[in-house]
Amino acid sequence: TAPLRIGVAGLGTVGAGVLRILQTHGPLIAARAGRSIEVVAVSARDRSRDRGVPLEAYAWESDPVALARHPDIDVIVELMGGHEGAAKDALEAAIASGKDVVTANKALLAHHGQALALAAEEAGRVIRFEAAVAGGIPVIKALTEGMAGNQMTRVMGVMNGTCNYILTRMESAGLPYEEVFEEARQLGYLEADPRLDVDGIDAGHKLSLLASIAFGTQVDFDHVDLEGIGSITIEDIRRAADMGFRIKLLGVAQMTGRGLEQRMQPCLVPATSPLGQLQGGTNMVVLEGDAVGQIVLRGPGAGAGPTASAVLSDLVDIARGNRLPTFGQPAMTLTRARPAQAAVP
Ligand code: HSE
Repeated sequence: TAPLRIGVAGLGTVGAGVLRILQTHGPLIAARAGRSIEVVAVSARDRSRDRGVPLEAYAWESDPVALARHPDIDVIVELMGGHEGAAKDALEAAIASGKDVVTANKALLAHHGQALALAAEEAGRVIRFEAAVAGGIPVIKALTEGMAGNQMTRVMGVMNGTCNYILTRMESAGLPYEEVFEEARQLGYLEADPRLDVDGIDAGHKLSLLASIAFGTQVDFDHVDLEGIGSITIEDIRRAADMGFRIKLLGVAQMTGRGLEQRMQPCLVPATSPLGQLQGGTNMVVLEGDAVGQIVLRGPGAGAGPTASAVLSDLVDIARGNRLPTFGQPAMTLTRARPAQAAVP
């Protein structure tokens, strides 16, 4: 079988991580995918920067949109980030020029996933985004494949490692929010705009994608009830601990009689439960289906290796020939969910 030819747009830590895996595990991945995955071209802002991986074997495109239109590429891997501008232009160009897309860009998908999914469906292309939700945890494939026989009843989880780091560190070191926030900044954990983390926006993006897949509905980030962790005090954490609870920034999505409920807010969880035990910058996703019951997945939600691992799972999925859309599964048709809040008189 012919190799799957890919172009990688964005060579930050994740992009470099994807190239590194392909360079070291090429034959292994080819055996699993049934064909080899070949990097044809790459693009990034700065060509000269040392990324710790050799780039000589790949063509260089300085413009990601030009990369997206490259005639000898089957799949564009978008790892640039940002929900407007270059990343969006590149994805639209890729779909318009007949390419499949793999992206880790949760912000872009939360805002424009619906339009992109429709464009892809019309063009007969697929968009895969395992890396956009809970980093290295294969939660989308757990839902679409592993739980394909279930009616989903609820999905929930801790999907921002930075917030979980801040909350657990406040408790273990007895430090106030402001101090731990500063620590997180120095450790490089925070997004360029830290509000994305601490206001729950990044986690809300991920929840809206997960809810869409679990309940077969359109991505509806606007109706995620968002509340961040900025007002949590050390006293709140102590009082919760006294009663046997921990405070977690927890996302919950469930279908109710009033419609789809999506909440991302600080919650009390029993200290001895899997969610309560979750330490540091880790993620945890809890999936509930009517047949299987509850499944708990825990793992790294960020970082070069884990995120690249998820990107590779999408590339293998495409290489194997899976042409089913990811958004809106299992319903396939992109039904609009009735947001629960809107139904309250
Ligand atoms: N800022 C995110 C987090 C990075 O802390 O989880 C991964 O999306």
